[in-house]
Amino acid sequence: MRELKVTTPGRMRPRRLRQTQTMRDLVAETHIAASQFVVPRFVLPAEKAAEPIPSLPGLAQLGRDNLVAEVGADLELGIRAALLFGHPEDDATKTADGELAWDEQGAVQKAVRRLKQEFGDDLIVVTDVCLCAYTDHGHCGLVEDGRVVNDPSLEPIVRTALSHAEAGADVVAPSDMMDGRIAAIRDGLDDASFDNVALLAYAVKYASAYYGPFRDAADSAPQQGDRQSYQMDARNVLEAIREAELDEDEGADMLMVKPALAYLDVIQAVRAETTLPLSAYNVSGEYAMVKAAAANGWIDEARVVRENLYAIARAGADQIITYHARDALQGKWL
Ligand code: PBG
Ligand code: ZN
Repeated sequence: MRELKVTTPGRMRPRRLRQTQTMRDLVAETHIAASQFVVPRFVLPAEKAAEPIPSLPGLAQLGRDNLVAEVGADLELGIRAALLFGHPEDDATKTADGELAWDEQGAVQKAVRRLKQEFGDDLIVVTDVCLCAYTDHGHCGLVEDGRVVNDPSLEPIVRTALSHAEAGADVVAPSDMMDGRIAAIRDGLDDASFDNVALLAYAVKYASAYYGPFRDAADSAPQQGDRQSYQMDARNVLEAIREAELDEDEGADMLMVKPALAYLDVIQAVRAETTLPLSAYNVSGEYAMVKAAAANGWIDEARVVRENLYAIARAGADQIITYHARDALQGKWL
Protein backbone atom coordinates (compact mmCIF):
# COMPACT_ATOMS: atom_id res chain seq x y z
CA MET A 1 0.00 0.00 0.00
CA ARG A 2 1.21 3.47 -0.82
CA GLU A 3 2.27 5.50 2.16
CA LEU A 4 -0.22 8.30 2.95
CA LYS A 5 1.15 11.56 4.20
CA VAL A 6 -1.49 13.36 6.26
CA THR A 7 -0.67 16.77 7.66
CA THR A 8 -2.05 17.52 11.11
CA PRO A 9 -3.36 20.96 12.10
CA GLY A 10 -1.12 23.42 13.87
CA ARG A 11 -1.27 24.34 17.53
CA MET A 12 -4.56 26.24 17.26
CA ARG A 13 -7.49 23.85 17.50
CA PRO A 14 -10.93 25.55 17.61
CA ARG A 15 -12.51 22.20 18.49
CA ARG A 16 -10.97 22.34 22.01
CA LEU A 17 -13.63 24.86 23.03
CA ARG A 18 -16.51 22.86 21.55
CA GLN A 19 -16.06 19.65 23.49
CA THR A 20 -18.84 19.95 26.06
CA GLN A 21 -22.00 21.98 26.53
CA THR A 22 -20.40 23.66 29.54
CA MET A 23 -17.40 24.71 27.51
CA ARG A 24 -19.59 25.92 24.61
CA ASP A 25 -21.65 27.99 27.05
CA LEU A 26 -18.50 29.45 28.58
CA VAL A 27 -17.32 30.84 25.25
CA ALA A 28 -20.71 31.71 23.70
CA GLU A 29 -20.62 35.18 22.14
CA THR A 30 -24.34 35.91 22.11
CA HIS A 31 -26.89 35.77 24.89
CA ILE A 32 -30.59 36.48 24.96
CA ALA A 33 -32.44 37.46 28.12
CA ALA A 34 -36.21 37.21 28.56
CA SER A 35 -36.23 40.96 29.23
CA GLN A 36 -35.26 41.59 25.58
CA PHE A 37 -38.42 40.02 24.22
CA VAL A 38 -41.49 41.94 23.11
CA VAL A 39 -44.57 39.82 22.40
CA PRO A 40 -47.11 41.02 19.82
CA ARG A 41 -50.72 40.63 21.00
CA PHE A 42 -53.96 41.04 19.07
CA VAL A 43 -56.74 42.56 21.10
CA LEU A 44 -60.49 42.48 20.60
CA PRO A 45 -63.03 44.97 21.91
CA ALA A 46 -64.45 42.41 24.35
CA GLU A 47 -63.99 41.37 27.97
CA LYS A 48 -63.70 37.68 27.21
CA ALA A 49 -62.69 36.25 23.85
CA ALA A 50 -60.02 34.00 22.38
CA GLU A 51 -60.34 33.56 18.65
CA PRO A 52 -57.53 31.45 17.23
CA ILE A 53 -55.69 32.96 14.26
CA PRO A 54 -55.42 30.19 11.65
CA SER A 55 -52.35 31.63 9.92
CA LEU A 56 -50.56 32.13 13.27
CA PRO A 57 -50.82 28.75 15.02
CA GLY A 58 -50.76 29.09 18.80
CA LEU A 59 -51.96 32.69 18.73
CA ALA A 60 -55.41 34.13 19.23
CA GLN A 61 -57.20 37.44 19.19
CA LEU A 62 -57.87 38.16 22.82
CA GLY A 63 -60.48 39.85 24.92
CA ARG A 64 -59.15 41.87 27.86
CA ASP A 65 -59.47 39.15 30.53
CA ASN A 66 -57.72 36.69 28.25
CA LEU A 67 -55.05 39.25 27.43
CA VAL A 68 -54.37 39.80 31.12
CA ALA A 69 -54.04 36.02 31.59
CA GLU A 70 -51.61 35.63 28.67
CA VAL A 71 -49.52 38.64 29.57
CA GLY A 72 -49.48 37.45 33.17
CA ALA A 73 -48.09 34.10 32.00
CA ASP A 74 -45.48 35.93 29.90
CA LEU A 75 -44.44 37.92 32.96
CA GLU A 76 -43.94 34.69 34.92
CA LEU A 77 -41.41 33.71 32.25
CA GLY A 78 -39.67 37.07 32.49
CA ILE A 79 -41.17 38.63 29.34
CA ARG A 80 -41.98 42.20 30.29
CA ALA A 81 -43.16 43.93 27.13
CA ALA A 82 -46.22 43.52 24.94
CA LEU A 83 -46.92 45.15 21.58
CA LEU A 84 -50.63 45.66 21.02
CA PHE A 85 -52.57 45.55 17.76
CA GLY A 86 -56.28 46.03 17.35
CA HIS A 87 -59.01 46.46 14.81
CA PRO A 88 -62.63 47.59 15.01
CA GLU A 89 -65.40 45.21 15.93
CA ASP A 90 -67.12 45.43 12.62
CA ASP A 91 -65.76 46.06 9.11
CA ALA A 92 -68.70 48.31 8.37
CA THR A 93 -67.38 50.88 10.85
CA LYS A 94 -64.16 51.44 8.91
CA THR A 95 -63.90 54.88 7.33
CA ALA A 96 -61.74 56.72 4.82
CA ASP A 97 -59.71 58.42 7.56
CA GLY A 98 -59.80 55.51 10.01
CA GLU A 99 -61.14 57.59 12.88
CA LEU A 100 -61.78 54.57 15.08
CA ALA A 101 -57.99 54.28 15.39
CA TRP A 102 -58.12 57.09 17.99
CA ASP A 103 -61.41 56.13 19.64
CA GLU A 104 -60.85 56.23 23.38
CA GLN A 105 -63.23 53.28 23.68
CA GLY A 106 -61.29 51.29 21.06
CA ALA A 107 -59.93 47.80 21.66
CA VAL A 108 -56.33 48.96 22.01
CA GLN A 109 -57.12 51.94 24.25
CA LYS A 110 -59.20 49.77 26.58
CA ALA A 111 -56.59 47.03 26.63
CA VAL A 112 -53.84 49.52 27.50
CA ARG A 113 -55.83 50.90 30.44
CA ARG A 114 -56.54 47.41 31.71
CA LEU A 115 -52.96 46.17 31.39
CA LYS A 116 -51.51 49.20 33.16
CA GLN A 117 -54.10 48.83 35.91
CA GLU A 118 -53.20 45.16 36.40
CA PHE A 119 -49.43 45.26 36.02
CA GLY A 120 -48.29 48.86 36.45
CA ASP A 121 -44.59 49.37 35.85
CA ASP A 122 -43.86 45.63 35.77
CA LEU A 123 -45.07 45.63 32.18
CA ILE A 124 -44.07 47.83 29.27
CA VAL A 125 -47.07 48.42 27.06
CA VAL A 126 -46.14 49.25 23.49
CA THR A 127 -48.83 50.11 20.97
CA ASP A 128 -48.66 49.85 17.20
CA VAL A 129 -49.75 53.19 15.79
CA CYS A 130 -51.27 52.87 12.33
CA LEU A 131 -54.46 53.47 10.41
CA CYS A 132 -54.61 50.39 8.16
CA ALA A 133 -56.83 48.29 10.43
CA TYR A 134 -59.33 51.17 10.64
CA THR A 135 -59.44 52.61 7.13
CA ASP A 136 -61.96 51.24 4.67
CA HIS A 137 -59.27 51.16 1.97
CA GLY A 138 -56.81 49.35 4.25
CA HIS A 139 -53.85 51.69 3.68
CA CYS A 140 -51.66 53.01 6.47
CA GLY A 141 -52.27 56.64 5.47
CA LEU A 142 -55.03 58.64 3.83
CA VAL A 143 -55.86 58.08 0.15
CA GLU A 144 -56.53 60.90 -2.30
CA ASP A 145 -57.07 60.25 -6.01
CA GLY A 146 -55.87 56.71 -5.56
CA ARG A 147 -52.59 57.73 -3.92
CA VAL A 148 -51.51 57.42 -0.32
CA VAL A 149 -50.79 61.03 0.60
CA ASN A 150 -48.15 61.89 3.15
CA ASP A 151 -48.73 65.14 5.01
CA PRO A 152 -52.51 64.87 5.46
CA SER A 153 -51.93 61.42 7.00
CA LEU A 154 -49.91 62.86 9.87
CA GLU A 155 -52.79 64.37 11.81
CA PRO A 156 -54.79 61.14 12.20
CA ILE A 157 -51.59 59.28 13.05
CA VAL A 158 -50.72 61.81 15.76
CA ARG A 159 -54.28 61.59 17.11
CA THR A 160 -53.94 57.82 17.31
CA ALA A 161 -50.62 58.02 19.16
CA LEU A 162 -52.13 60.56 21.58
CA SER A 163 -55.10 58.33 22.32
CA HIS A 164 -52.71 55.49 23.19
CA ALA A 165 -50.66 57.78 25.42
CA GLU A 166 -53.82 58.99 27.15
CA ALA A 167 -54.75 55.38 27.85
CA GLY A 168 -51.36 54.88 29.51
CA ALA A 169 -49.07 53.38 26.85
CA ASP A 170 -45.40 53.47 27.83
CA VAL A 171 -44.18 53.33 24.24
CA VAL A 172 -45.91 54.20 20.97
CA ALA A 173 -44.65 52.56 17.82
CA PRO A 174 -45.75 54.12 14.53
CA SER A 175 -45.66 51.59 11.69
CA ASP A 176 -47.21 53.66 8.89
CA MET A 177 -43.96 54.77 7.20
CA MET A 178 -45.17 58.29 6.38
CA ASP A 179 -42.31 60.80 6.20
CA GLY A 180 -42.08 63.14 9.17
CA ARG A 181 -44.38 61.23 11.49
CA ILE A 182 -41.82 60.83 14.23
CA ALA A 183 -41.38 64.60 14.61
CA ALA A 184 -45.14 65.13 14.35
CA ILE A 185 -45.89 62.54 17.03
CA ARG A 186 -43.10 63.77 19.31
CA ASP A 187 -44.44 67.33 19.12
CA GLY A 188 -48.01 66.14 19.63
CA LEU A 189 -47.05 64.12 22.69
CA ASP A 190 -44.94 66.89 24.19
CA ASP A 191 -47.66 69.51 23.66
CA ALA A 192 -50.06 67.27 25.55
CA SER A 193 -47.51 66.77 28.38
CA PHE A 194 -46.75 63.17 27.41
CA ASP A 195 -43.06 63.90 27.29
CA ASN A 196 -42.37 60.62 29.15
CA VAL A 197 -44.00 58.46 26.51
CA ALA A 198 -41.26 56.85 24.41
CA LEU A 199 -41.24 56.54 20.64
CA LEU A 200 -40.21 53.28 19.00
CA ALA A 201 -39.97 54.09 15.30
CA TYR A 202 -40.60 51.40 12.72
CA ALA A 203 -37.77 53.26 11.01
CA VAL A 204 -36.78 50.58 8.57
CA LYS A 205 -39.87 48.76 7.42
CA TYR A 206 -39.76 46.92 4.14
CA ALA A 207 -42.67 46.25 1.79
CA SER A 208 -42.72 42.55 2.56
CA ALA A 209 -44.72 39.46 1.67
CA TYR A 210 -43.81 38.18 5.13
CA TYR A 211 -46.64 40.25 6.64
CA GLY A 212 -49.29 38.02 5.03
CA PRO A 213 -50.45 36.10 8.12
CA PHE A 214 -50.57 39.30 10.18
CA ARG A 215 -52.85 41.01 7.70
CA ASP A 216 -55.31 38.14 8.10
CA ALA A 217 -55.21 38.59 11.86
CA ALA A 218 -55.43 42.38 11.86
CA ASP A 219 -57.76 42.45 8.89
CA SER A 220 -55.56 45.18 7.42
CA ALA A 221 -54.73 44.19 3.84
CA PRO A 222 -55.08 47.07 1.35
CA GLN A 223 -58.23 46.81 -0.73
CA GLN A 224 -56.40 48.19 -3.74
CA GLY A 225 -52.76 48.38 -4.65
CA ASP A 226 -49.94 47.57 -2.26
CA ARG A 227 -47.72 49.37 0.23
CA GLN A 228 -44.71 49.89 -2.02
CA SER A 229 -45.17 53.66 -2.22
CA TYR A 230 -44.49 53.99 1.50
CA GLN A 231 -42.73 50.87 2.75
CA MET A 232 -39.14 50.23 1.70
CA ASP A 233 -37.78 48.36 -1.29
CA ALA A 234 -36.13 45.05 -0.37
CA ARG A 235 -33.14 45.86 -2.58
CA ASN A 236 -31.96 48.76 -0.43
CA VAL A 237 -29.74 49.01 2.61
CA LEU A 238 -28.25 52.52 2.29
CA GLU A 239 -31.79 53.80 2.33
CA ALA A 240 -32.25 51.99 5.65
CA ILE A 241 -29.47 54.09 7.11
CA ARG A 242 -31.14 57.26 5.81
CA GLU A 243 -34.48 56.25 7.32
CA ALA A 244 -32.82 55.44 10.64
CA GLU A 245 -30.96 58.76 10.71
CA LEU A 246 -34.10 60.71 9.89
CA ASP A 247 -36.11 59.07 12.64
CA GLU A 248 -33.28 59.56 15.10
CA ASP A 249 -33.10 63.26 14.21
CA GLU A 250 -36.88 63.58 14.52
CA GLY A 251 -36.76 62.31 18.08
CA ALA A 252 -37.16 58.53 18.05
CA ASP A 253 -36.04 56.87 21.29
CA MET A 254 -35.64 53.43 19.71
CA LEU A 255 -35.42 52.20 16.15
CA MET A 256 -36.78 49.07 14.52
CA VAL A 257 -35.85 46.97 11.53
CA LYS A 258 -38.65 44.84 10.10
CA PRO A 259 -38.79 42.01 9.02
CA ALA A 260 -35.80 40.45 10.77
CA LEU A 261 -34.56 37.23 9.18
CA ALA A 262 -34.42 38.26 5.56
CA TYR A 263 -32.84 41.56 6.68
CA LEU A 264 -30.07 40.53 9.07
CA ASP A 265 -27.58 42.58 7.04
CA VAL A 266 -29.82 45.60 7.52
CA ILE A 267 -29.94 45.07 11.28
CA GLN A 268 -26.16 44.91 11.29
CA ALA A 269 -25.82 48.02 9.12
CA VAL A 270 -28.23 50.09 11.21
CA ARG A 271 -26.59 48.86 14.42
CA ALA A 272 -23.28 50.25 13.20
CA GLU A 273 -24.79 53.68 12.51
CA THR A 274 -26.85 54.42 15.62
CA THR A 275 -26.38 54.40 19.36
CA LEU A 276 -30.13 54.11 19.97
CA PRO A 277 -31.60 50.82 21.17
CA LEU A 278 -32.38 48.71 18.11
CA SER A 279 -35.36 46.38 17.84
CA ALA A 280 -35.93 43.73 15.22
CA TYR A 281 -39.38 42.41 14.36
CA ASN A 282 -39.46 38.68 13.61
CA VAL A 283 -42.70 38.99 11.66
CA SER A 284 -45.76 36.83 11.16
CA GLY A 285 -44.65 35.14 7.93
CA GLU A 286 -41.31 34.21 9.46
CA TYR A 287 -43.17 32.62 12.37
CA ALA A 288 -45.79 30.92 10.20
CA MET A 289 -43.16 29.29 7.97
CA VAL A 290 -41.43 27.75 10.96
CA LYS A 291 -44.72 26.55 12.45
CA ALA A 292 -45.90 25.05 9.15
CA ALA A 293 -42.65 23.18 8.50
CA ALA A 294 -42.53 21.97 12.10
CA ALA A 295 -46.14 20.76 11.93
CA ASN A 296 -45.16 18.69 8.90
CA GLY A 297 -42.24 17.19 10.75
CA TRP A 298 -39.80 18.74 8.28
CA ILE A 299 -37.79 20.74 10.79
CA ASP A 300 -37.08 20.63 14.50
CA GLU A 301 -38.98 23.70 15.73
CA ALA A 302 -36.99 24.19 18.91
CA ARG A 303 -33.64 24.16 17.15
CA VAL A 304 -34.75 26.30 14.22
CA VAL A 305 -36.27 28.92 16.52
CA ARG A 306 -33.09 28.91 18.59
CA GLU A 307 -30.98 29.53 15.49
CA ASN A 308 -33.32 32.23 14.23
CA LEU A 309 -33.43 34.13 17.51
CA TYR A 310 -29.68 33.99 18.00
CA ALA A 311 -29.18 35.12 14.40
CA ILE A 312 -31.28 38.21 15.12
CA ALA A 313 -29.38 38.94 18.34
CA ARG A 314 -26.02 38.25 16.68
CA ALA A 315 -26.85 40.70 13.91
CA GLY A 316 -27.15 43.38 16.57
CA ALA A 317 -30.76 43.64 17.74
CA ASP A 318 -31.24 44.64 21.37
CA GLN A 319 -34.97 43.92 21.52
CA ILE A 320 -36.54 41.02 19.67
CA ILE A 321 -40.20 41.32 18.84
CA THR A 322 -41.33 37.76 18.24
CA TYR A 323 -44.31 35.42 18.39
CA HIS A 324 -41.93 32.63 19.47
CA ALA A 325 -40.93 34.21 22.80
CA ARG A 326 -43.22 32.22 25.08
CA ASP A 327 -42.41 28.83 23.52
CA ALA A 328 -38.70 29.56 23.44
CA LEU A 329 -38.55 30.38 27.15
CA GLN A 330 -41.03 27.76 28.32
CA GLY A 331 -39.29 25.03 26.33
CA LYS A 332 -35.82 26.28 27.35
CA TRP A 333 -34.95 26.38 23.65
CA LEU A 334 -32.30 29.05 24.11
C1 PBG B 1 -49.44 47.67 10.20
C2 PBG B 1 -48.47 46.59 10.58
C3 PBG B 1 -48.11 45.45 9.86
C4 PBG B 1 -47.27 44.72 10.69
C5 PBG B 1 -47.10 45.44 11.86
N1 PBG B 1 -47.85 46.60 11.78
C6 PBG B 1 -48.55 44.98 8.53
C7 PBG B 1 -48.30 45.80 7.34
O1 PBG B 1 -47.58 46.81 7.35
O2 PBG B 1 -48.85 45.42 6.33
C8 PBG B 1 -46.67 43.38 10.37
C9 PBG B 1 -46.45 42.47 11.54
C10 PBG B 1 -46.22 41.05 11.19
O3 PBG B 1 -46.28 40.62 10.02
O4 PBG B 1 -45.97 40.27 12.13
N2 PBG B 1 -48.87 48.77 9.59
ZN1 ZN C 1 -50.47 50.08 8.70
